[in-house]
Amino acid sequence: MRLLKQVAALSLLPLLLLGVTAQAQSPTYGVGRAPTEVEVRAWDIAISPTGEELPVGSGTVDKGSELYLSKACAGCHGTTGSGGIAPRLVKDDVGPDVDPWRFGRVLPIRSPYATTVWDFINRAMPLGQEGTLTPDEVYSLTAYLLFLNDVIADGTVLDEKSLPLIEMPNRDNWAQVPDWFPRQPRLYGYPY
Ligand code: HEC
Repeated sequence: MRLLKQVAALSLLPLLLLGVTAQAQSPTYGVGRAPTEVEVRAWDIAISPTGEELPVGSGTVDKGSELYLSKACAGCHGTTGSGGIAPRLVKDDVGPDVDPWRFGRVLPIRSPYATTVWDFINRAMPLGQEGTLTPDEVYSLTAYLLFLNDVIADGTVLDEKSLPLIEMPNRDNWAQVPDWFPRQPRLYGYPY
C-alpha cells in the first residue's frame, strides 16, 4: 500500500516539473504592454449602488426631456418611453402597451438602485454612440426617466449627492438568488 502511494506520488512528479519549467520558460512575446494608471481609470467607469464613484455634475427633469428627444432616445424607445423598437423605459401604467418588450427590465422603475440607471445610460446609451453623453446629460436623462416612472417629482435636481439617496420603489423586493456556478441553468430563459 505504501509503495503504491509512493508510485502514485512519483507519477505526478513529471507533471509538476513540467508545470514548473513551463512557468520558468514562459516566453516573452513582445506584444502589448501594461496599461497605465490613467488608462485603467478611463476604462473603469462602473458605478456601484452607493454611487461613490459618480462624477460631479447635475441634471434636471426638464433638460432630460429635451435630451431624450435630441439624443435619439425617443427614436428607439418611443417618444413616451414605450412603443419603440427598443425596450420600454416606463412602467406598465404609463404609456401605451403596444410593444413586444413590455416584460423588459424597465430599469428606471425596477432597479433596486437609481445609481444603476445612471450607470447603464452612461455606459451603454445611446446605443451605437456609447460614451458620448456628458455626466450632466446622464444626470438629466436619469432624472427624466425616474420622473416618467413617478419615482421623483418634476423639478428635482439630481447630482452625485442626491442620486444615491433616491429610494427606488423596488429596493427591497429582490429575490435572494443563490450564487451561480458553472453550467448551472439560468432561472429564466434569455432574455428575461
Ligand atoms: C439605436 C437605438 C437606441 C437608442 C438611440 C437608445 N437606446 Fe436605450 N436601449 C436600446 C436597446 C436595444 C436596449 C436594450 C439593451 C439591452 O437589453 O442590453 C436599450 C436599453 C436602455 C435602457 C435599459 C432598459 C432596461 O430596462 O433594461 C435604458 C435606461 C436606456 N436604453 C436609455 C436610453 C437613453 C436615455 C437613450 C438616449 C440617450 C437611449 N436609451 C438611446 C436601444 C437604444
